[in-house]
Formats: sequence, C-alpha cells, structure tokens
Amino acid sequence: MFEHKLIDIQKRLQQPVAKATGLPNERYIEAAAFTDDRNYVTGTGWACIAFAEDLPEKNYVLPIDFMGVPLVITRDNDNVLRVFHNVCSHRGLHLAEEPCQTKGMLRCPYHSWTYKMNGDLRGTPHVGGYGKHEHPEFDKAAGGLKEVRSAIWLNAVFINLSGDAVDFDDYVKPLTDQFNELCSPEARTQFASSHDDCRTTMKVRSNWKLPVENYLESYHLPTVHPELNKTSPLDVHFDLERFDNGGGQGSANYTRTEIDGQHLPNLAGWPADKQNLAIYPVLYPNTFIGLHSDHLFIMYLQPTALDETVEHVRISYVGDEALENDYKPHRKALLDAWTSVFKEDIFAVERMQKGRFSPGYQGGVFSPAMDAPTVHFHQWVANQLVVNTS
Ligand code: FES
Ligand SMILES: [Fe+2]
Repeated sequence: MFEHKLIDIQKRLQQPVAKATGLPNERYIEAAAFTDDRNYVTGTGWACIAFAEDLPEKNYVLPIDFMGVPLVITRDNDNVLRVFHNVCSHRGLHLAEEPCQTKGMLRCPYHSWTYKMNGDLRGTPHVGGYGKHEHPEFDKAAGGLKEVRSAIWLNAVFINLSGDAVDFDDYVKPLTDQFNELCSPEARTQFASSHDDCRTTMKVRSNWKLPVENYLESYHLPTVHPELNKTSPLDVHFDLERFDNGGGQGSANYTRTEIDGQHLPNLAGWPADKQNLAIYPVLYPNTFIGLHSDHLFIMYLQPTALDETVEHVRISYVGDEALENDYKPHRKALLDAWTSVFKEDIFAVERMQKGRFSPGYQGGVFSPAMDAPTVHFHQWVANQLVVNTS
C-alpha cells in the first residue's frame, strides 16, 4: 500500500520549483510501482519500443517485452510495421519467441494456427474436426491477433498500449515544431543508420524514471561529464521550451567532429547561424533525443524490472553517403563519445536508486534555477497517475 496519496503528491509538485517536493521513494522501490507505471504512465502515453531497422527484412517478426506485456512487431511484405499482443488467440500461447524472418506467416506451435503479418487469422487446421479446417460456428475473422496502436517516427517504433492517448502526431507536435526551426520534415527523412557501428545498449540498475530525470537536466555536467563540459560547458546549456509531454535542454556550443579535415554531411537547410546548436529533448515517457546538424541519436528506455532498465541507443547520420567507409572514423568517434557520456551517467542514476531506500529522503528539494525540467517530469508522472487512476 502506498503511503502517499497521489493527489497529495500532485499538489506538492504544483508548488513553485523552490518549494516543490519530488515523487516519493515508493514510486521507485515498491513492487506495485512497476505495474502502476505501465498501466497509468508509460502505457497511456506513446512509448518507444524499437527501431524500425530491428526488423531488417520483409515478413519479419520481433518479439518485445514492454514492462511485462509480451508484444510482437511485424514487418509485412509491403514493409508496413504493426504491433500486436504476442499471444495466440486460441489457448493463449506466447507466439513469437525469437526475432526471425518468416514466410509471411506466424505459426503457433501448439495447434498450428497461423497468422498473417497483418494479424489476420489464416489457417486453423482441424478446427471443425479431423480434416475440416473451418467450422460454421467458428468466427475466424474475430480470431486475429490483437493490435496495439503504433506509430513510426524518426525510424523508431512507438506504441500507445492503452489505446486512448491523443494521436501520435498531436502528442509529438510541440517537439516537431522545435525540430522544424532547425530542419524540415523532408530533410529528416535523410537520417540513416547502420547496424555495425551506430548502436549500443547499456543496462542500468535503476528504476526507469531516474535516467529520464538525469537526461533532462544539465546541472550535473561539470561534475559527471568533465570532458563534455570542456567543449559544451554548463553556461552554454539552456532549457528547451517545455510542453505537455516533454522537455529537455540544449547546447549552444556543439562542435562538429572533424577528422583529417573532413566533416560528416550536414542536414539540408540547417540554418548557417545555428551550426553549433544542438537540442536534447525527452519525449515522455521514455525517448531521449539528440538532434545536431550532422547526426541524430535516439535512446529509448526499456524498463525490464522495477530497478532495472535497458538503454537502447542508435545514432543516425545524414544520407547513405555518411554510412560509407570514408566516414567510419567519424561514426566511431561519435559512438565512442556518446557511449562514454551515457556511461558516465550510470553511477549517478544507480546511486539515486540506492538512495531511494532511505527514509531520510522523501522526494527531496530542488534548485529553483536548475531543476525545473525534473519537476516538470515529476508533475507529468503524477498527473498521469492521478488522471488515469481516477
Ligand atoms: S494455442 Fe495456438 S493454436 Fe492452439
Ligand atoms: Fe548526463
């Protein structure tokens, strides 16, 4: 049983930042917080669960665990991606166990029912008795896989598990508006990445909310990221305009990687006077973005347990040309640099998780100048919990 009433938590978070109190420990350490978060926070927004190229071929299936809910992403013969509950409609077998290419059909290994990549139930052997694969009373059309609302953005796959969030385009619009000031939607279609040297994953022993809180603020830059702080110091970081479902920070001092006098290709139309601008927004609940003139990274969080989160990172570059051998050293330099920055953050979030077991801490106090983005996220979480449980 949670000690604090959600409505009280929400009220304390609505104070000015200097007086606000953060989410209490129980939201990070009590077992029920994990399923609560899935049912009322991450599952009611739009959460990133994969990169589209994780399904590299047509007729591909990719099983995903979303906070204990088994899902499967399919890519059909026309390259359309869909997300379904990963369970057979008959006796509830977990369907796809491993990522694999299929012949256009997902077959349940129990009684051999088959599903098309669009979820339709196709084959139902002996459903009407031996050798009879139909039955007049059996409604095949109702036996398809149960689809989960999904959207593709920046080549990443997002889901709304609850099915009742606003449309993805509306959810993300304030962020795309910020993007549009730097690059057009057409220019963004140029982003491309490779499997070989554009990706990494990291496991963090903390509740999923703590990496979000950490990513949102630049206050820790001088202490946790001394190298990054040399080129992009705290005083050139600024808060992004916060919106309903996100916030974050930016840097006015991004320096493009130069190797042997060569730079990576730039996004078409990026304003010449903003070459050094980079923005680092979070799309709540779990998507971190880094947008630069010459690359884009996305990190999404996969919460695997109350106190364990896997961070999936992918960097994209501008056009296929940027993926050629000439730019291999640039890609390696950027992947190494970002991996090292993200790794530097791990000790901080893991020690915040440990600290959440202290009865001497119940939400903490905030810096009025530095912690507004963190408070905004806490408010968002509290609001989701209040709205979706009432
Ligand atoms: S449980 Fe899948 S076909 Fe029977
Ligand atoms: Fe950091």
